[in-house]
Amino acid sequence: MPEQLPDKRLIADSFSRAAATYDQAAALQRTVGSNLLARLPVDFAPTELIDLGCGTGYFSRALHERFGQRVMGLDLAEGMLRHARQISPEVTQWVAADAEALPLRSNSQDLIFSSLALQWCPDLLLVLREAYRVLRPGGCLAFNTLLEGSLHELRTAWRAVDDFVHVNRFMVPAELESILAAAGFADWRCEVEEHTLHYQRLGELTHELKALGAHNINPGRPGGLTGRARLRLLTEAYERFRTTRGLPASWQVAQILMFKPI
Ligand SMILES: C[S@@+](CC[C@H](N)C(=O)[O-])C[C@H]1O[C@@H](n2cnc3c(N)ncnc32)[C@H](O)[C@@H]1O
Repeated sequence: MPEQLPDKRLIADSFSRAAATYDQAAALQRTVGSNLLARLPVDFAPTELIDLGCGTGYFSRALHERFGQRVMGLDLAEGMLRHARQISPEVTQWVAADAEALPLRSNSQDLIFSSLALQWCPDLLLVLREAYRVLRPGGCLAFNTLLEGSLHELRTAWRAVDDFVHVNRFMVPAELESILAAAGFADWRCEVEEHTLHYQRLGELTHELKALGAHNINPGRPGGLTGRARLRLLTEAYERFRTTRGLPASWQVAQILMFKPI
């Protein structure tokens, strides 16, 4: 089965549909984005900043609070931007944009912040080169992304059912590091955080992924609904991972800071 990323139009539609449910389901997203924000140097004082793949704008507002500056939120999904605009009209400017082709002038930004968005981009090196172009000398790209091992329980459980693609493919650390090294930044660091969430029932995890807009839209996904028999097989396979805390869902998150040379 091919394991390339889904079509960008499908990604945008899926996240747009999830705009109203995203915030209630986004506990992990809040934790890892807050951890990324906390990694920024304490004396860093950007005046021009963007939140790339801003979704509902939670971190656009957090960036505004931390730095006291106007923040621009950019996202591929118009539905996310509409929602963000409604819940915080005063804080930011919301722009429909693709991280691989930013509608911004070169050398115009001090900080590009991006939490759990860039794993949706087919060409991460292209995104990093765009970020480099848009940043001013000394500017920072702070982003996080998912690595292999994320949702490995769900991927393994599906393998007991069929050979279709049900879970996105995530990079291995060596692949990510070689892309980071090729992007031209002077100084960069990457640290990996592991998070495990627990659920009492498999349906809680799959509903949460759907509410986040992160459910299965992969090329190679099966057509039609998941029948009862296949769902039972999936549930049985996932049950093998159960611990005293419930059904685990693992996430491997790379937290990255990159600085453009002065
Ligand atoms: C998991 S959400 C994260 C939202 C927000 N950063 C947060 O942490 O709550 C991922 C977001 O990335 C956006 N996205 C995906 N691909 C993108 C691209 N190529 N350019 C810009 N945004 C993109 C999606 O539309 C979605 O809103």
